[in-house]
Amino acid sequence: MAAIGSAVGLGNIWRFPVTCYKYGGGAFFIPYFIALLTAGIPLMILEYGIGQMMQGSAPRALSRINKHTEWVGWFSLLIGLVISIYYAIIMAYAVEYLVYAVKGFFDGGQMPWSMASEGFTGTSEVTFFTETIRKHSSKASEMWQLVWPLIGGLVVTWGAVYLILCRGVRRVGRVVMWTVPLPVVVLGILAVRGLTLPGASAGIIYYLTPNFAALKDPATWLAAYGQIFFSLTLGFGVMIAYASYMPRDSDITNNAFITCFANCATSFLAGFVVFSVLGFLAYQKGGVEVSKVIAAGPGLVFITYPTAVTQMGQFGWLWPPLVGVLFFVMLLFLGIDSLFSLIEGITTGLRDRYAFLSQKFLTAAVSGLCLVVGIVFFASRAGIHWLDIFDHWANDYGLVIVGLLQCVIVGYFFKTDTLRDYINRVSEIKLWGWWELCIRIITPLVLGYLIFSNFINEMTRGTLYGASGTDFDRYLWVAPVTFIILFIIALSLARLWKFLVLIGGGVVVFFITWLILPGSAPLSTSIFCSLAASVLFGGLAFCITIARRGKESRG
Ligand code: ALA
Repeated sequence: MAAIGSAVGLGNIWRFPVTCYKYGGGAFFIPYFIALLTAGIPLMILEYGIGQMMQGSAPRALSRINKHTEWVGWFSLLIGLVISIYYAIIMAYAVEYLVYAVKGFFDGGQMPWSMASEGFTGTSEVTFFTETIRKHSSKASEMWQLVWPLIGGLVVTWGAVYLILCRGVRRVGRVVMWTVPLPVVVLGILAVRGLTLPGASAGIIYYLTPNFAALKDPATWLAAYGQIFFSLTLGFGVMIAYASYMPRDSDITNNAFITCFANCATSFLAGFVVFSVLGFLAYQKGGVEVSKVIAAGPGLVFITYPTAVTQMGQFGWLWPPLVGVLFFVMLLFLGIDSLFSLIEGITTGLRDRYAFLSQKFLTAAVSGLCLVVGIVFFASRAGIHWLDIFDHWANDYGLVIVGLLQCVIVGYFFKTDTLRDYINRVSEIKLWGWWELCIRIITPLVLGYLIFSNFINEMTRGTLYGASGTDFDRYLWVAPVTFIILFIIALSLARLWKFLVLIGGGVVVFFITWLILPGSAPLSTSIFCSLAASVLFGGLAFCITIARRGKESRG
């Protein structure tokens, strides 16, 4: 139940519809399902398998496979840390909306977002989100200005995470009994309302019609794999940590299939709500194309779901605030069990290493750190731009790279058949060759190709990802450089000092190269290329060291 709670989260009802809309609606389904079959399910089985077999957090489980691979565990936890920081800001939006929804009871059922003045982009729901909730800014000079109500939302969110986790996994078990089933019921109510709105069918047709042309774009595929990783909480070390709490003889494949299908079914249902409302908005705008209704971005669902809530008004004044409150409570329930699972993954890893630190202390320290960084970056007026940029790097590269490394580690540094035999011994559904084929060949090849081709596109585009239409492109390097720093921290935590020295040398070499070569590329791209190249340089040196050690030990 906790694993389903971790998987089913804002990723299903916030990120999935946005990603789907951005990559052409139905066009996204084919890569999404292929990603589920070739990476989602095999890696879920892998994470459950190594967590349960090794009975430890991601760094510990991976270090038991090979001591040089512990850093991958730390790296996955650090990526989870970054994602938790911006995940909480989505929860903070929901907290603020919840307060406004409660106000609706006292305003005769009028929802504040339906009364926002018609603004620069169109419907009042858009204006309300951009102007009232996040005090939108696209100016670099205003990017550090804080939005105080969002800080309040963050404090509530992190306070709740602390209270749930400070007493350990037993309390988690009790919380998820409530936070998992309720959201599905509310989503069902909104789906029925959405589907009965005029124009809904156009949205649903857009959602369900596959567009084969989009399949040629590697970005669509990378986004699909990124979404699968995010949505199934793979690559965060969470499923490994949760599985480590299970008795050694628990069924693995059954649990993995249940988690994957429950998660993807929820995403599919959420898509119906969002796309039916998009169809309705297109109808209201005089029948424009669904793809042109509003800009695809992280704020999409804060416009579509509130619209569905407002439309409840046709059944009586009490309905909009009632469904509004239910909806935002549901959003918070959905998000909280995913958010605390990410923090649980991190604290389990830290506790395995620093056993003298208490659960209470670790939870308070990690939550406090996330709160402070979240306030600085994401509760600012440019927060949503940062969110979009960090989300891109964390998911489309970070999680996918961890997934690739996990496959390589289990497939080539460990006897895959040992793990498969263990899984088959405890599970009802037996694994055959397909699982090993995916872990050793198909998944790493697909992920490797996608990461490589998208990285080349990224580097040759002339500008780094993000914040289109704003003037803070000189800050776009912050996110990729953050991930390189996290990589270095992961190596330090795994005490791979030699490797670190090699990377340090690489950084210096490439900085010097970058300084002496006249560059026509923008500054940010050059800096990032230098750092990335030095990481590759270090990686190569690491592989050579391992290969030599292997040879020596065989000798
Ligand atoms: N799997 C979590 C979600 O989808 C992180 O929200």
